[in-house]
Amino acid sequence: PRDMYGDRLNSHGPDISIAKVRQRLTAAVTALDKDPKDANALIGGKPHSTYAAHVYAPADLTRIVGEVHDADPAMITEAFDRATAAQPAWNALGGDGRAKVLEAMADALEDRHDKLCAILVREAGKTWGDAISEVREAADFCRFYAKLAREQFAGPQILTGPVGERNSHELHGRGVFVCISPWNFPLAIFTGQIAAALAAGNAVLAKPAEQTPLIAQKAVKLFYGAGLKPDLLALLPGGGASVGAALVAHPGIAGVAFTGGTDTARMINKTLAGKEGPIVPFIAETGGLNGMFVDTTALREQVVDDVIASAFGSAGQRCSALRLLFLPSELADDYIATLKGAMDQLHLGDPAQFDVDVGPVIDADALEMLNLHLDALTERGQVLHRAPLPDGLNGHFFAPVLAEISGPQELAREVFGPILHIVRYDSQNPEAMTNALKSSGYGLTLGVHSRLEAFAERIMQAVPAGNVYVNRTVIGAVVGVQPFGGEGLSGTGPKAGGPLSLSRFASERAVSVNI
Ligand code: NAD
Ligand code: ALA
Repeated sequence: PRDMYGDRLNSHGPDISIAKVRQRLTAAVTALDKDPKDANALIGGKPHSTYAAHVYAPADLTRIVGEVHDADPAMITEAFDRATAAQPAWNALGGDGRAKVLEAMADALEDRHDKLCAILVREAGKTWGDAISEVREAADFCRFYAKLAREQFAGPQILTGPVGERNSHELHGRGVFVCISPWNFPLAIFTGQIAAALAAGNAVLAKPAEQTPLIAQKAVKLFYGAGLKPDLLALLPGGGASVGAALVAHPGIAGVAFTGGTDTARMINKTLAGKEGPIVPFIAETGGLNGMFVDTTALREQVVDDVIASAFGSAGQRCSALRLLFLPSELADDYIATLKGAMDQLHLGDPAQFDVDVGPVIDADALEMLNLHLDALTERGQVLHRAPLPDGLNGHFFAPVLAEISGPQELAREVFGPILHIVRYDSQNPEAMTNALKSSGYGLTLGVHSRLEAFAERIMQAVPAGNVYVNRTVIGAVVGVQPFGGEGLSGTGPKAGGPLSLSRFASERAVSVNI
């Protein structure tokens, strides 16, 4: 489908309420189970093997989804040399030529929809709904950045100047970009970073999260199939402290695009700052301590739906997820009672089942971190409720928690998982809480539920946040519709899926000619 200007609209996934669609998806996951995948380093398009480690399904620790072979230092050198040699021709191809490859990639993602979803369900523990959204988002990034490549990299733009002088401005690729991505959007963010870097005329060395190399390998092969010369994109799986750190420290790289934790971003920033040679741009999209303010005019049923989806959807493993719910003191008890009832309806379990709302958390470390936080809340008597945890699960499952704390100052950092913290506030003085939230230093998503525009405006003005949502969820930004990204501890920008997305991936040149 195309919009009135002829641009392709955002991708549409299939409707899982249709029985045939569910049969198709189940068949894809059954096929994957029979044929576990390998993830190797891909350099010049060729798979490189080292020692192999199993990739287990977070929803079932007895299930091996595939094997991963991490990259080694010699592979990084080879990948960098090939990328350096290939990049100038790709840059010279111009925005239109690069856009065609990205559009072919978007089509390929949609064509392989079911297989990709099956890998996401098994390897990342995504529910079907989340997996479908992720494939759509990956395709959207490719089409959106293709459009920006055509518009912004069409060649020199003529500027005004004195008579007799020809002035122009143009954008071009910087060189070899390192793209480092997290496990929680292992297809959409992985593909989106690469697509942005390529659209701007760069070659890419991509390091996926160690938990999700299989879907990354699939995506890289699709890029090759879409016509991208393999030397322009290397896949380098491996640990953050080993492969990730080595890539960032490489003397020749032209930029780093990173999405992940705030502490990791700081480490990368330090490495880049300490390097000899050119100053390397760093694009970081990091964590959030996201709040939602509800006032006395809000519609209760809508608030509860949006809160449950924002806090517990995707097992709370979205950077955008709701962590702090600010309720007016006079209504807090009523809301808490309704939220408890809604939590009791959540179905935890194997995400390959279509009726599951909340899948596993990603790994044992994530589970341990959440249990430690829960222990601290329990010790202080702050736990209000937990969703039911069915018997017989054999994965990293953590039942959603509702807790009450006195204010954001009790949470020094993002707690990445399905724990929602209620904070009561005085309706006459919401500033006590907006100030406390602002002091956290994060600035990713912010929600307001109110029928009073003045209240929404008051909260929005008081709390810094890259993405503000009024009377809806705080998750699920759509490419090109809600450009996504934070400020402060939450990231540097430019936003993913926004009009400025490619700006830091590119160098600018102004030419002034007097002949
Ligand atoms: P993480 O920081 O642990 O890892 C992210 C990536 O960085 C991984 O590929 C990892 O291997 C790599 N890495 C780790 N140490 C490194 C180092 N020293 N040098 C180079 N690379 C290194 O984060 P995670 O646990 O994978 O992801 C969850 C985090 O990501 C959460 O904090 C979440 O809020 C954030 N996130 C942010 C956004 C956003 O758009 N703002 C989107 C998704 C996730
Ligand atoms: N872009 C993702 C969201 O909006 C993280 O939920």
